[in-house]
Amino acid sequence: MSALEDLLRERIAERGPITVATYVQTCLAHPSLGYYMKQDPFGVAGDFTTAPEISQMFGELLGLWVIAGWQAAGSPVPLSLIELGPGRGTLMADALRAAGNVEAFKPAAHAHLVETSPALRAVQETRLVGCGFALSWHDKLEAALSESEGSVFILANEFLDALPIHQFVLTDEGWRERLVGLDEAGALAFTVAREPPPAFAENILRNRSTDVGAIAEFCPAVVGTVQQCAAAIAARGGLALFVDYGYARSAVGDTLQAVKEHAYVSPLESPGDADLTAHVDFEAVARAGLVGGTVPFGPLEQGEFLARIGIGQRADLLAASNPDHESAIKEALDRLTNEARMGSLFKVMALAPSGIVPPGFEASEAFEL
Ligand SMILES: C[S@@+](CC[C@H](N)C(=O)[O-])C[C@H]1O[C@@H](n2cnc3c(N)ncnc32)[C@H](O)[C@@H]1O
Repeated sequence: MSALEDLLRERIAERGPITVATYVQTCLAHPSLGYYMKQDPFGVAGDFTTAPEISQMFGELLGLWVIAGWQAAGSPVPLSLIELGPGRGTLMADALRAAGNVEAFKPAAHAHLVETSPALRAVQETRLVGCGFALSWHDKLEAALSESEGSVFILANEFLDALPIHQFVLTDEGWRERLVGLDEAGALAFTVAREPPPAFAENILRNRSTDVGAIAEFCPAVVGTVQQCAAAIAARGGLALFVDYGYARSAVGDTLQAVKEHAYVSPLESPGDADLTAHVDFEAVARAGLVGGTVPFGPLEQGEFLARIGIGQRADLLAASNPDHESAIKEALDRLTNEARMGSLFKVMALAPSGIVPPGFEASEAFEL
């Protein structure tokens, strides 16, 4: 049993079951035993591989997407490039290298990295310090927004899925919050609250389902994060791009999942030793973007979005200058864009100030409720 499982069992035995959100938050972000706080989980030797770790093309194209949006806005100076949950810093390194080819961008831009994990922040520093851009790190988005200047361009890949969700189950007595408690043998087990859900969930659960046993999910942290991004963009100019696996319209279903060493495990099996995520509800992201004062676009499927912003051409160029790596480049292109791989499950949503259409999107793709 992991040290964190011990601690959770003790806490639940003393004080009663905890919400799924508290469970996820503790597993990922406990100061010493949380999943992201103690290790670098990426790559073949780790638990999972993300798009920027698959190919430099991903970060480069997102960097050029920022450039296209910045130039379309008249190249305002200064500007802040904010990344939420930068992992190993690979996306930011590739984006800055590509964007840095535009001469006026480097002196105008300041990169801000929002990262809670000291272990990953150290990896990011090794990767980025000396890249020629002004760099700052922050624990929270609020700090990045208040300590940054000018228009804000925000990138977040596989960040929203790591924020803690609440789950609710439709029982014979109505909706009840899903909790993590202990079974008769003292092991971690799902249970439900006796009392009705907290007030914040009422609107979300209304008309969601009539099927007893249905599970609905809600992530207040996603809503809060997106609203803050949107409010900053509406006030200061800029764009945001959220890339994640998820669904386009709010639906019912249990999407909480745990991954350890590239395989799915039960979410209650290895607290603190497995990555815990949930699929992102892009309708909730869009609503938060609208409340914050921006226009949301998409979601587009990742394969379609990357094709529109030029991944095919980039792959051809890269292969032409690295003929020995041609098959690896083609394999990475396929992995990122093929519908049967990451191309369809992963989705892309952008936020823009009113009247602006973000690069890669059509005006007709503004999100409609
Ligand atoms: C799945 S990783 C994605 C990493 C990177 N974006 C990539 O694509 O490779 C999630 C990242 O978000 C960070 N993170 C998770 N929750 C966070 C929070 N509440 N605030 C800031 N960073 C967080 C993790 O430490 C990690 O860097």
